[in-house]
Amino acid sequence: MSDIHQLVYASRATFQPTDNGGGVEPEVARILMQSRRNNPRRGLVGALYYGDGCFFQCLEGPRASIDDLFGRLQADPRHRDVLVLRRHEIAAPSFAEWSMKYVPTAGDVQTLLAMHGKDRFDPYTFDERLIEAMVGLLHHRADSDGLNPVAPPPRAARTMPEETHEGGARWLLPVLVFVAVAVAAVAAVLLR
Ligand SMILES: Cc1cc2nc3c(=O)[nH]c(=O)nc-3n(C[C@H](O)[C@H](O)[C@H](O)COP(=O)(O)O)c2cc1C
Repeated sequence: MSDIHQLVYASRATFQPTDNGGGVEPEVARILMQSRRNNPRRGLVGALYYGDGCFFQCLEGPRASIDDLFGRLQADPRHRDVLVLRRHEIAAPSFAEWSMKYVPTAGDVQTLLAMHGKDRFDPYTFDERLIEAMVGLLHHRADSDGLNPVAPPPRAARTMPEETHEGGARWLLPVLVFVAVAVAAVAAVLLR
């Protein structure tokens, strides 16, 4: 029997959203920094989604750490109506690379909601299938807030198609410059 648990809950933010042009909400950024500082020393990992004023968080780790954090979470004034959507034992953490992955509001969440006949993110109405699909989406989406200093995942797991493309372009320029300089040097020697 494993002592590792997964807990998924919903809650409502108590702070007003800021008009920051679609960037990470300052309060959410503070929560992420706090989570990423605390979770590694408690053996916790997970993912956080924030949309339409609601949080959807998946926490994984030793049962005692989950219980302890959940106690503190329920007393946190930055959200209310904390509702456990799912809690069960798991063989091993599935977000093992992330002290707290942040998934921003994105088109594929809207698509998932639309597929389930919903036009806004209201996790209180999610059934077991939608909870499972949302956790799956948290796994597959890139963490793009750029604030995760704690648990950088292995390169292979983190690489996105755009990154591969950009990485390739970054490599190519110095190589081309080196080849051009080498050809010029050889030509200069031969023509002397
Ligand atoms: C939606 C939400 C998610 C949170 N997630 C975490 C978390 O994963 N880990 C954590 O340590 N604190 C998390 N917090 C903050 C805790 O409620 C609490 O403020 C914090 O653990 C206290 O940390 P401190 O003792 O370092 O001040 C979260 C808060 C909110 C509102």
